[in-house]
Amino acid sequence: MEMKWILTAAILLMPPYVSAVSAQQLDKKWQSNKNCEACHQEISRKWETSRHSNSHFSKNDLFKKSLEFIVRKNPTLILDEVKVECAKCHNPRLAKAEVSDEEKVALLFDDKDAKKDFHQMLNNKTMKNGINCIVCHNVDKIHLDKRVGSQGMNSITFGPQGTMFGPFDDAVSPYHKTAQRDHFVGDKPTLCFACHYSAKNEHGVEVYATGEEYDTFKKREEGCKDCHMSKKKKGYASNFAYKGKKPKERMVRKHRFASVDNSNIMNDYLDMKGMVDDNYFIIKLTNHAPHKIPTGYGLREVILRVVFLDKNDKPIKTNEYILGSKWVDEKGSPTIPHLAVKRVKDTRMNGKSTNAYKFPIPKGAVYAKYSLSYRLISDGLAKEIGVTDPFFLREYTFAQMRIHL
Ligand code: HEC
Ligand code: HEC
Ligand code: HEC
Ligand code: HEC
Ligand code: HEC
Repeated sequence: MEMKWILTAAILLMPPYVSAVSAQQLDKKWQSNKNCEACHQEISRKWETSRHSNSHFSKNDLFKKSLEFIVRKNPTLILDEVKVECAKCHNPRLAKAEVSDEEKVALLFDDKDAKKDFHQMLNNKTMKNGINCIVCHNVDKIHLDKRVGSQGMNSITFGPQGTMFGPFDDAVSPYHKTAQRDHFVGDKPTLCFACHYSAKNEHGVEVYATGEEYDTFKKREEGCKDCHMSKKKKGYASNFAYKGKKPKERMVRKHRFASVDNSNIMNDYLDMKGMVDDNYFIIKLTNHAPHKIPTGYGLREVILRVVFLDKNDKPIKTNEYILGSKWVDEKGSPTIPHLAVKRVKDTRMNGKSTNAYKFPIPKGAVYAKYSLSYRLISDGLAKEIGVTDPFFLREYTFAQMRIHL
């Protein structure tokens, strides 16, 4: 009641809502990867398999349900306001970085024009296309302050529309201007850090820290691109025959932005070995990645599972060890990282390290089957926030082995 009254007073004092969102729209020529596909076919198709192409809430059930959950738990927040805040990294071609007080009031009172404006701004073609070509290749400058952390679109300056920045100093295209920028050359993680370095929630709790984890290594061998794109290989930047000439052969990388669902990255950079030591079965896990496992989004889980079998191959006991984090709200109940006041448990593995996990062998066990798998979100919280897309609910299994004890 009181809240409503204050807001009613506020709206009387506020200047009326004036639309200010449509000014900075991208030209049709650069809106989506479909504008690039004819001449960069291979790159465009690979990018489509990546999570970067699914970062808009309309294509990502976990993200969408998280947004709704945040508003459900904080009734004073407005959904569109939270969407704008998260878009900084998830959809950085958003036409605005902040929601003004006038706009907040207009949205709260279901002002038709305001709602329409925000809907159009948050759901246009570019936004739905996610972290697309024009997000990365229009980045002119990066000014990340590591003490503040990643600010997405506020950590970068976009160049003029129609200029594609890239790794080459001699690329010529009939469709767009080109220019070389340092953050595309070599191995440096600078571009990735605009969004992947670190970020805190409003309680000051760190929710992403992949870049910080990486920075703890004095000797950094690979950047992010070697593993998440590919090593440089001979290939073509474009399949277009400019002025009838064959495209130039160049050193290029794959645009796969490898994750657990579109690649074999877990098998390529994690080693698992099973061994017996007295009454224990031991899994030795080596993480070759220069960041924690799992890293990034705080509800990911790496699962080590051991099934002990008797001489007739009948299972007698199943043990599980989960590498991951637990987050709680003010009341101490489990919640999502973005709302947490504390991370209460952290069993993740450090970058570039080896750990041994011990499981007691039960009586009568003759064989052990063991496996390494991955969940994009823990089971309990998936249910709590109402995730239904099987993509997020399934378990991704990478290695399954069997040993005679
Ligand atoms: C998340 C950021 C990101 C996105 C999204 C992205 N790129 Fe790239 N792109 C890069 C980086 C980094 C390089 C430099 C790779 C290297 O080290 O050579 C690159 C290189 C290129 C090159 C030069 C050839 C090569 O493969 O090295 C072209 C052409 C290109 N990108 C086009 C595209 C197109 C078209 C899209 C959309 C389908 C796209 N990129 C999406 C980051 C991105
Ligand atoms: C009509 C064909 C065509 C279209 C459409 C096109 N490009 Fe290109 N692009 C080229 C050619 C040709 C090159 C140069 C290839 C070379 O020199 O090896 C190029 C080069 C690039 C480079 C490398 C620039 C550098 O200096 O390193 C990037 C990045 C790039 N394009 C991005 C895009 C994006 C993003 C789109 C869509 C918005 C797009 N291109 C649409 C033909 C095209
Ligand atoms: C503009 C911000 C931004 C930039 C720049 C960026 N990313 Fe991302 N990246 C994201 C966001 C947001 C997601 C999560 C998308 C989703 O799942 O909805 C993501 C997802 C990923 C994933 C998939 C993780 C998973 O969920 O499995 C990988 C891998 C990744 N990024 C690597 C990179 C690399 C490597 C670079 C630098 C070449 C880079 N990113 C640059 C914002 C960015
Ligand atoms: C030696 C290879 C290697 C390098 C180098 C590397 N990663 Fe990874 N990365 C992995 C592996 C393996 C995984 C899968 C396990 C996991 O989720 O932690 C992963 C997972 C991720 C994820 C996704 C986690 C998820 O939610 O699915 C992100 C985001 C990511 N890396 C970002 C980066 C960034 C940013 C860099 C550079 C600072 C980087 N990585 C460097 C191997 C690497
Ligand atoms: C500082 C940049 C940044 C901001 C701001 C940000 N995110 Fe993210 N988000 C990321 C990155 C980077 C990833 C990818 C990490 C990974 O996959 O492990 C990600 C991944 C996620 C994922 C996992 C998506 C998937 O496909 O599995 C969810 C859910 C998510 N973010 C929710 C949110 C919400 C809700 C907000 C706003 C309250 C938000 N994020 C704001 C950078 C950001």
